[in-house]
Amino acid sequence: MSERLSCIDAGSEYCPCHLAETNDCLICSQLQGKSFCDCNWSGVCIYQNFYWCGNKKNDVRTVVEGKIIERKRVHEEIVVFKLAVTKTLARQLKQPGSYVFLRDPEKPYFFNVPMSIMDANENTGEIHIAAQIIGPKTKSLLECKDKILIKGPYWNGVLGIKNLKITKGENVLIAARGIALAPSVLAIKYLLKNDNKITFIMDPGKLGMVFVHDYIKDLKLKTIELNFKEEKGVKDFSNILKNGNYSLVYSAGSDRFHKRVEKAIDEMEENIKFVITNNSHMCCGEGVCGSCSHKTKGGNTVKMCKCQLDAKELLEGRKVNG
Ligand SMILES: Cc1cc2nc3c(=O)[nH]c(=O)nc-3n(C[C@H](O)[C@H](O)[C@H](O)COP(=O)(O)OP(=O)(O)OC[C@H]3O[C@@H](n4cnc5c(N)ncnc54)[C@H](O)[C@@H]3O)c2cc1C
Ligand code: FES
Repeated sequence: MSERLSCIDAGSEYCPCHLAETNDCLICSQLQGKSFCDCNWSGVCIYQNFYWCGNKKNDVRTVVEGKIIERKRVHEEIVVFKLAVTKTLARQLKQPGSYVFLRDPEKPYFFNVPMSIMDANENTGEIHIAAQIIGPKTKSLLECKDKILIKGPYWNGVLGIKNLKITKGENVLIAARGIALAPSVLAIKYLLKNDNKITFIMDPGKLGMVFVHDYIKDLKLKTIELNFKEEKGVKDFSNILKNGNYSLVYSAGSDRFHKRVEKAIDEMEENIKFVITNNSHMCCGEGVCGSCSHKTKGGNTVKMCKCQLDAKELLEGRKVNG
């Protein structure tokens, strides 16, 4: 792999992973089967860790049983789950971009469904998730009695996370549509901690509902509702962007939605950092099953459950129409 890629799990307790054992590490040239060291990773040496682990991967994520504290049908299609987890897991899931796989204990492993963390409280050991009920995996979540299986923590739900983390004391524009309003809550909380001023554009989407009010009502931010599917909404968004001196835009929605936001940014001809939610299909979350595979501009096939690609590069590669 000649491209410089970055891995969300590098340096975490889950690194080195299965990919190190098969010589497919995203970062380490030695763990790609080469005989020389040529990485851009500035943390603890992945190869050395692998060697110390006896040429084996580090810990793997386990499946835990979470108690369903509350299950609230906030909309015909949306259920908000409040789940009890360990305080450690709740803390690990506070990062923007955090997600878990959920499953009904009565169902086989292939019912695992990726779900973003909308909120996490490490003091009470609670996580909140908003699930839109669409097909077999999400419908099966409704069958859960008082327990649900949780596999995590996973972190690659946001692409461009580094940009988000380095933004301090700036103006930030967050635009989210439909169910993707959910992962915006953690991003907002993180950005507020770093003294950023936030404008939150909320598009109710096809659901016709903004279900995050309870989570943002006490936060210091400006909220605006608009519809990106209407020409007026897109124009209003462009005007807000032009007049706000924003240094970072976070887009949460489908790839088509990201494209609309990106177009407005491109028209500005200014260097605005762009961060998007990761809409790849995810099944294992471990870089193995291949459901999230994406071909980079350098011609490499990478697994988007692990790889942090530049938002613009990903959207270009997906050839989504605006
Ligand atoms: C990192 C991440 C975070 C997510 N967070 C949330 C969330 O907070 N709330 C929420 O309601 N949904 C979320 N999703 C989407 C959710 O996982 C899918 O809606 C769900 O997998 C659909 O499965 P299904 O069997 O119910 O429906 P299906 O009928 O199988 O699919 C319905 C739609 O979901 C897509 N989809 C199917 N399987 C997957 C999969 N394994 N990964 C991603 N997309 C899939 C399909 O392409 C289709 O567009 C997230 C997805 C990812 C990757
Ligand atoms: S979800 Fe299995 S390889 Fe990414």
